[in-house]
Amino acid sequence: MLKPLLTRDQIAARVAEIGAQITLDFSGQSVVLIGVLKGACLFLSDLARQITLDATFDFIAVSSYGAARQSAGEVQLIKDVTTPLQNQNVILVEDILDTGLTLSFLKKLFAARQPRSLKIAALLDKTSRRTVPVEGDYVGFKIADEFVVGYGLDYAERYRNLADICVLVNDTPK
Ligand code: IMP
Ligand code: MG
Repeated sequence: MLKPLLTRDQIAARVAEIGAQITLDFSGQSVVLIGVLKGACLFLSDLARQITLDATFDFIAVSSYGAARQSAGEVQLIKDVTTPLQNQNVILVEDILDTGLTLSFLKKLFAARQPRSLKIAALLDKTSRRTVPVEGDYVGFKIADEFVVGYGLDYAERYRNLADICVLVNDTPK
């Protein structure tokens, strides 16, 4: 069952605020937005249109092991960016910060490329789930430890196209 958590209007309003904040913080500079496929696609496309700076996009893909293999705690880069990042203002754009494994891995990876600055924009943040200390610089909404879908977020690849963000109440998709 899908239980509405954040409506499209609430999301749009918050994304506009984050875009305005980024525009202010990097006033007179350019930014490179790096989206983490696939979940961050919708957030990136809406956020980018709320940023009135010189901006470019790039995308990466990672694989992380599921709960069954969590002891490995490993994240692998499957697709890298093609943009040179040295001296650039890089903003990693992610759908949700959960354990923090993905973004702490990516932060380390991209810091090594000597960007001028490196920030994290995450639409959602499940703070109570964190196992690795990493914080978002731009966070849309802090949410409880519930499994959510919609607006890019999936369950077994489904529900990414829901306009609202919903809690998936049981594991059986309808
Ligand atoms: P982390 O490395 O544990 O922070 O994992 C972040 C990734 O886990 C996100 O990019 C999502 O793909 C996935 N994820 C975590 N929580 C949820 C959720 O509630 N719904 C859908 N995907 C989630
Ligand atoms: Mg993801």
